[in-house]
Amino acid sequence: MPRKPISLGWGVKKEGKSIWTRNANKGVSVKGERRKRTGKIEWRRWDPYKSKVAAALLKTKGDPSQILPDPGSVCLYLGASSGTTVSHIHDHVCGAENHHNGQLLAIEISPRMMRDLQTLAEQRKGLIPILTDARDVNGYATMMRSKAQWIHQDLSIADQAQNFISIAEKTLSKGGTGILSLKAASERSIDGEDESRFARAESLLRQSSLDFIERIDIGQYQEQHAVFHVRHL
Ligand SMILES: C[S@@+](CC[C@H](N)C(=O)[O-])C[C@H]1O[C@@H](n2cnc3c(N)ncnc32)[C@H](O)[C@@H]1O
Repeated sequence: MPRKPISLGWGVKKEGKSIWTRNANKGVSVKGERRKRTGKIEWRRWDPYKSKVAAALLKTKGDPSQILPDPGSVCLYLGASSGTTVSHIHDHVCGAENHHNGQLLAIEISPRMMRDLQTLAEQRKGLIPILTDARDVNGYATMMRSKAQWIHQDLSIADQAQNFISIAEKTLSKGGTGILSLKAASERSIDGEDESRFARAESLLRQSSLDFIERIDIGQYQEQHAVFHVRHL
């Protein structure tokens, strides 16, 4: 029997263990994901095995809607890759023709990935790809129309928590939501096994000026990863 959909916000819904976003570019899949229609609305399946944000929505012990940005908000996405997760965030924050007037800055260091992101941005108004090192905040802060209400960092670099804190303190608005997807294998081996790497990141976040909300274990969907949810006080 089909599961009753639960709305997680304007453009995101959950049906059983599936998450769907309202397609801002009707008739087009970004990475071959399934699409389906309910009336005039087309939905795209958001795969938790390919997106840490989708995995966090399924695994949080809190209210999943708190992890998501609001439609029309300014969002900063650090480590956009070719735009799989970015496209779902865009569905919700901007919508078709950016009728929500959102701003989604997608920061990526790889020129190869940037080419895919630019193609995506041509079809999705409000998505702004920027080729730069996410740690160089000056490389993109001037392009933000205001401080961000939501940031997500998914960078395969060492010292992920320290970098996240430093970037969030400069770019996140008061009350804004911060999401850090942390890959244990990217941290230094001196920091021990996966659990002690996650615990160290949590401790750094708790000691920072950010309000720590939850560490979300997404290992079921993405090996050696945890997602941290914070808020800027
Ligand atoms: C795990 S992938 C991100 C996947 C993406 N968030 C998604 O869910 O679709 C990490 C990305 O971060 C990028 N990256 C690594 N170091 C970076 C840096 N210092 N600044 C910006 N991007 C970086 C890599 O090129 C890679 O595309």
